[in-house]
Amino acid sequence: MGLCYPGFKLHTQRGESHTVRNLGKRIGAVACPLLLLGVWTILGAQSNPKVERGKYIVERASMCIDCHTPMTAKGEPVRTKWMMGADLMFKPAIQIPAWAGYAPALAGLVGYTDAQVIGILQTGLKDGQPLRPPMPQFRFTRADAEAVVAFLRTLKPAPTPGPKR
Ligand code: HEC
Repeated sequence: MGLCYPGFKLHTQRGESHTVRNLGKRIGAVACPLLLLGVWTILGAQSNPKVERGKYIVERASMCIDCHTPMTAKGEPVRTKWMMGADLMFKPAIQIPAWAGYAPALAGLVGYTDAQVIGILQTGLKDGQPLRPPMPQFRFTRADAEAVVAFLRTLKPAPTPGPKR
């Protein structure tokens, strides 16, 4: 494609006027940036497959949002507080002594290392101890745990994150 090549010209017969050749250069000068802008836009709009996989796990498959995002009175997760930590809106029907009433903020994973969160998602343990219920003891594959981390890192952190465990 000669469009972005500085020497781009319309095909001209010998003796054809300079005007036609200069016109070719001008078309190139306008079309080239537009073309590059188009390619850049298309590539930019295409999302990262790892982040997409993480989003699917967090929002559709493992439903982290049900506990880690505050709910409206109608039981819908609040969009503006996505994964920003929440008091759980349910309690166990039987006494569970270790029950955790709060699911910590994970948006942006502020204060967490990737390895720490990947470890929690692969073993259900934090620093060798099980997390308290109702946090599920997940056994994610490494690839899925990494995808969740990649997605959580894209989220806007809570302005005032609540307590970690
Ligand atoms: C049924 C509710 C529930 C679901 C679903 C859930 N969590 Fe949790 N999660 C919790 C609670 C409650 C805690 C706090 C546990 C504690 O204090 O020991 C927690 C803790 C965590 C922690 C440790 C935070 C810290 O600071 O110690 C991580 C990381 C975590 N969850 C990630 C996830 C991810 C990722 C998902 C989805 C794949 C998920 N959780 C799904 C309730 C839930």
